Amino acid sequence: MLEVTGLRVAYGGIQAVRSITFHVNEGEMVALIGANGAGKTSTLKAISRVIDAAGGDVHFCGEKITRIAPHDMISKGIALVPEGRGVFPRLTVAENLAMGAFLRNDKPEIATDLAKIYAYFPRLKERETQLAGTLSGGEQQMLAIGRALMSRPKLLLLDEPSMGLAPIMVQKIFEVIRAVAAEGMTILLIEQNAKLALESSQRAYVMESGVITLNGEAAKLLDDPKVRAAYLGE
Ligand SMILES: Nc1ncnc2c1ncn2[C@@H]1O[C@H](COP(=O)(O)OP(=O)(O)O)[C@@H](O)[C@H]1O
Ligand SMILES: [Mg+2]
Repeated sequence: MLEVTGLRVAYGGIQAVRSITFHVNEGEMVALIGANGAGKTSTLKAISRVIDAAGGDVHFCGEKITRIAPHDMISKGIALVPEGRGVFPRLTVAENLAMGAFLRNDKPEIATDLAKIYAYFPRLKERETQLAGTLSGGEQQMLAIGRALMSRPKLLLLDEPSMGLAPIMVQKIFEVIRAVAAEGMTILLIEQNAKLALESSQRAYVMESGVITLNGEAAKLLDDPKVRAAYLGE
């Protein structure tokens, strides 16, 4: 469904992503793991057109999307949950969720999806009228995921949903991510928390200093001595 070929990202003279190739099949949850500074966010930003790639190509459902306009991503069916969440702080929880559905006009189904998101995250329902900027970090992460789901994407891009959150909150959020995946959503999950990412995904790619150094089934990578030594603290 998503094919990334020879993707490169540079900031001035600095090569953050050095020609990486990977793919995500329909219905899969694939993780891209790696240490801080490995180039994970740059990869996701280039795919989602937040920044321009310096080279390479991105295909989505067979169509080349390397240079499409950033605002066309949602209508193509790609939703990004950015690092740092990116909720609208001065809008309420309900308004943020409504923004996620702004391109849709299937009103009854929007209501169904909203009910589903509130069922996934009862905390958001309780805080429906609260301004998003006053939510805790974990609640903002829930809201950012909920808002992305409100666009009914074909592909969900998640940039470090666990970042900066207490373990209990991370558990809650990952329960929902796994539930969404189990319902057939295609997900590219970026994580520094390698254990969590590998335990949640089917396949994974390991990124180091802008290149992919390992890839394979997540369960196999979890058992790989190199991965265990470098990313699981063993
Ligand atoms: N806007 C930017 N300007 C210059 N360098 C950047 C910028 N964003 C990221 N970088 C650099 O690119 C490299 C990869 O960063 P990033 O993609 O954020 O990694 P990760 O998400 O894996 O932590 C890092 O060396 C980082 O300092
Ligand atoms: Mg990052």
